[in-house]
Amino acid sequence: MLDLVAHKVHDESRQGESYAPQNPDNKVYTRKFYIESYGCQMNFADSEIVASILNKEGFGATRNLEEANLIFINTCSIREKAEQTVRNRLQEFRKIKTQNPGTLIGVLGCMAERLKAKFLEEEKLVDIVVGPDAYRSLPKLVAEASEGHKSVNVLLSREETYADISPIRLNSNGVSAFVSIMRGCNNMCSFCVVPFTRGRERSRDAESIVRECRELFENGYREVTLLGQNVDSYYYTPPYSQPEEAQPVTFARLLEMVAQISPLLRVRFSTSHPKDITRDVLTTMAAYENICKCIHLPVQSGSTRILQLMNRTYTREWYMRKVDEIREILPDCSITSDIIAGFCTETEEDHQETLSIMDYCQYDLSYMFFYSERPGTLAQRRYKDDVPLEVKKRRLQEIIEKQNQLSLNNYKKDIGKTFKVLVDGDSKRSADDWVGRNSQNKVVVFPKKGTTCQKGDYVNVKIKDCTQATLFGEVV
Ligand code: 5AD
Ligand code: SF4
Repeated sequence: MLDLVAHKVHDESRQGESYAPQNPDNKVYTRKFYIESYGCQMNFADSEIVASILNKEGFGATRNLEEANLIFINTCSIREKAEQTVRNRLQEFRKIKTQNPGTLIGVLGCMAERLKAKFLEEEKLVDIVVGPDAYRSLPKLVAEASEGHKSVNVLLSREETYADISPIRLNSNGVSAFVSIMRGCNNMCSFCVVPFTRGRERSRDAESIVRECRELFENGYREVTLLGQNVDSYYYTPPYSQPEEAQPVTFARLLEMVAQISPLLRVRFSTSHPKDITRDVLTTMAAYENICKCIHLPVQSGSTRILQLMNRTYTREWYMRKVDEIREILPDCSITSDIIAGFCTETEEDHQETLSIMDYCQYDLSYMFFYSERPGTLAQRRYKDDVPLEVKKRRLQEIIEKQNQLSLNNYKKDIGKTFKVLVDGDSKRSADDWVGRNSQNKVVVFPKKGTTCQKGDYVNVKIKDCTQATLFGEVV
């Protein structure tokens, strides 16, 4: 499972995964927590922070709902469907609570933030509601809830980055880890609920990021993905140093600092806003072989008029020039995207422009959605959600077909090439094969027979065949 999806951000196929570490400290815990995560990679990273906080309180992780004293669901609000999935899941937890009345159920993350105390009233079986910036108060909230009080903390913060908390890796293959470098978003894309649920943007201090990455490397990890809603606007000024030493750290500089930990440590990042990714970032990527050549650069729409309504702050042409610049500096870079079909007032012409910009950009992969109006967003307040559902779905289907075609063409071009692949583990389909990824984040499957490599090793693999999502090759 991990091999194929662990590196996708905003991948709905990952919804609802629950993980527990393999009891890393060999401690026996009498109290257990279960955590299930939905939505973007940030949420999965947050669950690892929650796990760390609960662990310090003497709770061990479990994958078994029945033996959990605490059941947490880390939620996503980005589309209505994500929220509906969570509601359905809460109904299932209800049954467990009927069997084990002492079990506490907590809602974490964006939906907790959006619905606040309403959750406790609406979903009678929820005991604890905690927003993304309030996880430090979990021990107190759990204690209150154990005494029968309903507990809520949905305060957003301007400072919280959980910098000092060492996440407990819940879903790790021991090779790749996600490292959160900032929280929140200041962008106010009109369709997006994130600025309301995750609050203002703030950057985590660079020292703790580099320290966390170095520790991961020392513990055998070979890849870190730096995570943020908008990583290119990362900006950190060291507060206590002398003014002359207080060099602000930009994202390009941070990338370099992490890349310098070891040439054997791969560095990835997500997500980039086209308006913020700088030439500096691109040249830093070019300068370090271990900074992976893959940029997730959501376009959202190919129509300048729609982009304006979305408040994306760039035009179609401007975005295309950005892609040109990437191709110029990083000729072998993979570019991936997020695309929304059927935003307010979108015409057939606008839609065609989305299809044609996809052709221009030759995306290797896209996350594609139809527009889902979210309460409280600028779009919900200002524009009418006027594209009929069938039209949205049909346009989305066309976008998906276009992407499938682009992916297949791009993957076919890799046949005959040799890539340096980081081995992630056994292939999902067969234990006779390894699965890994190349710098472009493409999944590469190859036979184990005749190789001596292990999980976490780098090997050169020559590509012989492909589908639209996987490359197949042999070690050379
Ligand atoms: N409707 C559909 N898709 C959305 N996204 C964000 N908000 C919405 C919405 N209201 C998509 C965007 C974003 C990705 C994380 O989710 O494409 O980049
Ligand atoms: Fe939402 Fe736009 Fe911020 Fe991404 S950049 S989280 S789409 S507001």
